[in-house]
Amino acid sequence: MTTHKTRIAVFCSGNGSNFKALFEAIRNKQLPAEIVLCLSNRARCGAMEFAEQNGITTLHITEKQFASFDEFADAMVEGVKKHQTDIILLAGYMRKVPDAVVAAFPDKMLNIHPALLPKFGGEGMYGVHVHTAVLEAGESETGATVHFVNEEYDKGEILLQRTVPVLPDDTAETLAARVLVCEHALYPDALEKLLALQRS
Ligand code: GAR
Repeated sequence: MTTHKTRIAVFCSGNGSNFKALFEAIRNKQLPAEIVLCLSNRARCGAMEFAEQNGITTLHITEKQFASFDEFADAMVEGVKKHQTDIILLAGYMRKVPDAVVAAFPDKMLNIHPALLPKFGGEGMYGVHVHTAVLEAGESETGATVHFVNEEYDKGEILLQRTVPVLPDDTAETLAARVLVCEHALYPDALEKLLALQRS
């Protein structure tokens, strides 16, 4: 019997190191899943290059290509659905996902955030800004969170979370690097958990 492989669309904006970690984990852990699409608001970035090198379809889509936000959102839904996508994984996607896309994939979209949500989340909290805020708050630990995406920024139900220490001489950059290493193990584990949940 052949099991249906869960078809994944990954949304990225940058280096795509989480995308690469997911791609490699699917292969190494032999997860019943495959990445069928890399969607990005940037035509050229590490994630899009990695997708091209690995035979994964890419879709460059931004609001600017459309006359209205609604048209953009509809095109995004269509672009993702066209690939019979089962789930969406946001991996360093630095835009708010349109509500129409969230509504089209209820409980089927995850995001990774580089902090221990609900702390240090919400509008403006992305990338290095998160780590700067953690250091300014004098936290002794931070971490990474994988959560379901709903219409409210960084507020969806938490699926998996892991802590990382903050060291006395940390800068936002050293902290970001330590958290990123954690993310590369956490996101594949969260995907595995989601796949198990969907099969139970
Ligand atoms: C990751 O640290 C991810 O958690 C963060 O952007 C980085 C992307 O790195 N995402 C956010 O801040 C979203 N709010 P990557 O492109 O190398 O995976």
